[in-house]
Amino acid sequence: MGIAKGTILSAARPESIRLAAEIIRAGGLVAFPTETVYGLGCDALNPEAVARVFEAKQRPRFDPLIVHIADRAALDALVSHMSLSDHILMDAFWPGPLTLVLPKRPVVPDLVTAGLPTVAVRMPAHPVAQALIREAGVAIAAPSANPFGYVSPTCAQHVLDGLGDRVDLILDGGSCPLGVESTIMSTVGAMPEVLRPGSLLLSDIEAIIGPVICRLRSEQTPLAPGQLARHYATRTPLAILPTRGVHRPPVGERAGLLAMSSPVELGGYAAIEVLSPSGNLREVAQHLFAALRLLDGLSLDRLYAEPCDEQGLGLAIMDRLRRCATPRGPGMREMLSPTAALVGQGLGESVGLITDGRFSGGTYGMVVGHVAPEAAVGGTIALVDEGDSVTMDAEQRLLQLNLPDEEIARRRAAWQSPAPRYTRGVLAKYAKQVSSASTGAVTD
Ligand code: TXA
Ligand code: MG
Repeated sequence: MGIAKGTILSAARPESIRLAAEIIRAGGLVAFPTETVYGLGCDALNPEAVARVFEAKQRPRFDPLIVHIADRAALDALVSHMSLSDHILMDAFWPGPLTLVLPKRPVVPDLVTAGLPTVAVRMPAHPVAQALIREAGVAIAAPSANPFGYVSPTCAQHVLDGLGDRVDLILDGGSCPLGVESTIMSTVGAMPEVLRPGSLLLSDIEAIIGPVICRLRSEQTPLAPGQLARHYATRTPLAILPTRGVHRPPVGERAGLLAMSSPVELGGYAAIEVLSPSGNLREVAQHLFAALRLLDGLSLDRLYAEPCDEQGLGLAIMDRLRRCATPRGPGMREMLSPTAALVGQGLGESVGLITDGRFSGGTYGMVVGHVAPEAAVGGTIALVDEGDSVTMDAEQRLLQLNLPDEEIARRRAAWQSPAPRYTRGVLAKYAKQVSSASTGAVTD
């Protein structure tokens, strides 16, 4: 394609957009700005290109991607049905930072949706994103353009720092004006539900369609599919302070402070990032990821983040901070005995998964084993790996494993079989192991 991988080009030049669109059409990867964060884009209907995105990010394949479109005409080809609420939400908030989860058509590759029957669709408002999608003439699947689990990028340099030559081209459109990802909603269930709080405020949504479920309002709730407990995470451990402005780090610790507003008490910190001098949550959101990256680059011992009220944008801001603060759990190997089990904990909900102990390799192991019937508590299972946990419907999980039909049928039957492969005693034992694991005390 005539340019070195990882090249940054100014998005202000029309020839950059043309080149980027050519790369997308040819199955390549282009990082581009949206109003929320930078995305790592590819042709959404080209499974090989989509596989490249997962590869570049080292993203586990159970975490589905958002498909970006430039106009509503593109929806027909991707989704089979839209509810009245979907239409109303699109009228009100598209283009903009709202992602809608909709029933997918078969043409959307399973890889994009991680085998789910739904696809997440968003129409970004950023002019560069719009121009790129239009010029490419295809829907663009794009996760945030960062290595999996790390802080999302809000400028071209962040993308280069994290992905470098794993991306064919980076379109530089300056800093993202909103700074926190889109709000993800589903109206597929009985009541509209926010699956991920984001830049679009819950109050704005509720003003249009009435009350919506937002289980993430409290920290004690299970996660949406593909939502990982540890995410947006700095390498330096981060703790959220109980209150603002009254904390001093322990003597001898090289600590960084992420302050919501100024003035702050300077005492004892090696570095301080003030997110918004006046405590304006829009500014906080805009600067959040860049400030986390900056502090993370200073090789400090620990970062402390001031909390903000979980109102308005504060909901998304605290969600990101909490995920960043979720400690790395013990590694997979420490948690597993060779033949038996792994029991995980959804946030606030004890759920279990027992397998026959076979896991695929790689950093983010995926369960390939048999799921015992008694493990699917309340229809959800949890995977725990390196401190990440994800809960999802056991049936959905099975469908994601890409197995031949007979094997799916065999496992489903085993699941529903009344004869448990593992006794309740075994479950109880591992459940105990996990509750100590969450405090970092697992030794066997
Ligand atoms: O603002 C944003 O949404 C950015 C920009 C680039 O558009 N994108 C973004 O993508 O944040 P990503 O991949 O980092 O997060 C997408 C999340 C997934 O983790 C998953 O939880 C959720 O979207 N998701 C995707 N498809 C879904 C589906 N069918 N059902 C439920 N959740 C889904
Ligand atoms: Mg992301």
